[in-house]
Amino acid sequence: MITLKFYGHACFTVTHKNTTLLFDPFFTGNPANPASPDEINCNYILVSHGHGDHLGDTVAIAKRTGATVIGTAELAALAEQQNCANISMHLGGKRSFEFGYVRITPAFHGAGIPGGHAAGFIVNFFGKTLYFAGDTALFGDMALLGRLEKIDYALLPIGDNYTMGPDDAVEAVKLLQPQAVIPMHYNTWPVIAQSPEAFKEKITVLNIPVHIMNPGESMEL
Ligand code: NI
Ligand code: MN
Repeated sequence: MITLKFYGHACFTVTHKNTTLLFDPFFTGNPANPASPDEINCNYILVSHGHGDHLGDTVAIAKRTGATVIGTAELAALAEQQNCANISMHLGGKRSFEFGYVRITPAFHGAGIPGGHAAGFIVNFFGKTLYFAGDTALFGDMALLGRLEKIDYALLPIGDNYTMGPDDAVEAVKLLQPQAVIPMHYNTWPVIAQSPEAFKEKITVLNIPVHIMNPGESMEL
């Protein structure tokens, strides 16, 4: 059994037995996240970029749990400076783990770290393939990602303003051809207010299911 849990904004955990990956742990100061970072136990923390709403509580959680931070070289260097266990990768790189593999994908967005680059992740987790897009604009090479990987779940930002909005995310889905879509990075603040139901209607026409997750909600993959 693989469980995906949403903590609001772009923060998720995915768990199978004793292995948990945590994505973009924005707890402290996140109006959409009712959970405390102290309740999280995880083995790895995947951080897409250095903006505060993604790096979030990474250092505190990594220190408390001993979890290994996975990210681009610049992000891993930041974790290293904070004495956190880390694995340094970069765009286009793929690496095997005991749970499967991680591929770091480009994201068109600011890095939030000098010299860095925003990223996303394609994670194969005990046989299920998730694409966590991070913060990104729509880009045509998503078609390549869809060709390279059979994506089971695409976690896509729909908030607009800082990232893709709903209409661009519909185009992203057409390029990625995932088995299912989970919207993220919306309704945290008024500036990224969106209707996930309206987005869902646009995707359902493509015959691809959309799972709208409320903060605190879990689903089995
Ligand atoms: Ni950002
Ligand atoms: Mn963001």
